[in-house]
Amino acid sequence: MINFILNDLNISTDLPPTIVLLDFIRKEKMLTGTKEGCREGDCGACTVLLGELVKGTVKYKSVNSCLMPLGDASGKHVVTVEGINQKELSPVQATMVDEGGTQCGFCTPGFVVSMTGYFLNCSNLNTDDAIESLGGNICRCTGYGGIKRAASDSISIFENGKSDNGNHLENLISLKFIPDYFRGIKKRLEKISTNHKSVEKKSNVIISGGTDLYVQRWESLVGSKGNLISQNKKLSGISRIGKQINIGSAATIEEIKTSKLLQKYFPKWNNYLDLFGSLPIRNRATIGGNIVNASPIGDMVNILLALNSTVHLKDGKKKRSILLKNFYKGYKSLDKKKNEIVDKITFLTPSKNSLFNFEKISKRTYLDIASVNSSVYAESKSGKISNIHISAGGVAPIPLYLNNTCNYLKNKTIDTETIRNAAEISLKEISPISDARGSAEYKSLLLRQLFYAHFIKLFPQLVDPEKLL
Ligand SMILES: Cc1cc2nc3c(=O)[nH]c(=O)nc-3n(C[C@H](O)[C@H](O)[C@H](O)COP(=O)(O)OP(=O)(O)OC[C@H]3O[C@@H](n4cnc5c(N)ncnc54)[C@H](O)[C@@H]3O)c2cc1C
Ligand code: FES
Ligand code: FES
Repeated sequence: MINFILNDLNISTDLPPTIVLLDFIRKEKMLTGTKEGCREGDCGACTVLLGELVKGTVKYKSVNSCLMPLGDASGKHVVTVEGINQKELSPVQATMVDEGGTQCGFCTPGFVVSMTGYFLNCSNLNTDDAIESLGGNICRCTGYGGIKRAASDSISIFENGKSDNGNHLENLISLKFIPDYFRGIKKRLEKISTNHKSVEKKSNVIISGGTDLYVQRWESLVGSKGNLISQNKKLSGISRIGKQINIGSAATIEEIKTSKLLQKYFPKWNNYLDLFGSLPIRNRATIGGNIVNASPIGDMVNILLALNSTVHLKDGKKKRSILLKNFYKGYKSLDKKKNEIVDKITFLTPSKNSLFNFEKISKRTYLDIASVNSSVYAESKSGKISNIHISAGGVAPIPLYLNNTCNYLKNKTIDTETIRNAAEISLKEISPISDARGSAEYKSLLLRQLFYAHFIKLFPQLVDPEKLL
């Protein structure tokens, strides 16, 4: 049985864990406020909140219910727009109406749910963050002006109305942002969690966040015995052990983005991973899924290649490790046996004299896949490169490690001429094809520009942008 709370209702169902949460909500429970738009994680019409007990409190995150297997709701609180409804409109709903933030209304439940999720998760409110939390919601007819004003007005209502008792949940309930049944959710989840048995089953289909699989072939997954691993605590966590950083394969991109440990080593970490999907996608997408999906334009893979990462695989008790740069054999072909699972990813902690940069070009800045992406990790002493790793995505059938370019750059003194020569070598290592994201020539040009951007940003005193072009 899969046990969870849907709004105020306890659910116990023996339906297959691989069916899509959106279908359960709309077709089994007839809660049609949650809309089906693209069914590909792009529009946000299907957004629901997923509440989970974390260290004694309930943490909510927005997710796309169209890409989530029902089994992953196990032990959690799923909130749809109906679960926010009260006798009167909540401040988020009311301000959306008052500010003209809705026209056809198709996108509106998704916006209301995401915005309510922002209030649930954050007590230090500001309009920029509130708007950012709506990054996965698209409106085709209203435009965003009214929706932004609604976010700002809702914050004012909360700030002006809250009492100073310091209890954020109580403030949200008393100001009618959420119904009062939310007060009892923690205790109810504690009971479900203790009764909850893992829905994990042995099968060949490993499903982690589902953000690739449920886009590619959701019909074939429904009813199959998927091995749902995203709740597996043994595959989670981000830690430093000795000189090594360890990331569990089920760590989500949002966990990786907000990791204080990783932010310490990579000052612009947050900015890089802001370019990965939207918040609801990052809340579900995992590092293991990004690696095994083997897309040549995967962003996490691109970053990990430049960190010279190692993939740790396990099959029952058998374990083995392989450098990520040797993991890809051809388009979507991996050095991985059918029953092997990615356990974790490791890389050496960056040294003190190291620099890192990630560049991504896509048709839209946010919520888009890359046309070309590239990362560089470089250690240098007195202007001389002692260690370097560079990756390039979207320019070959596999996520590419630029072996020859790195070999050329090792022990070289960084100057404009060297970087120009290295860029020429990188262009001989790639084999881009023309597709919807651009012609082969365009992608070669992009890679050269991204390559230059790395060195202009990392070594501004040594590389002259004027002379590079
Ligand atoms: C709207 C949208 C936007 C996106 N934006 C981006 C983006 O900006 N950048 C980007 O790189 N990607 C993006 N993606 C793609 C996707 O989110 C990522 O590739 C994500 O990391 C996949 O992880 P997942 O856990 O969802 O994988 P899943 O879909 O669960 O699995 C993907 C593959 O990996 C296998 N797998 C998963 N975990 C393991 C494991 N531990 N061991 C063995 N096999 C495993 C599965 O069997 C499957 O073959 C986007 C997707 C969507 C829908
Ligand atoms: S239906 Fe569009 S994101 Fe789910
Ligand atoms: S109001 Fe119509 S899509 Fe947003």
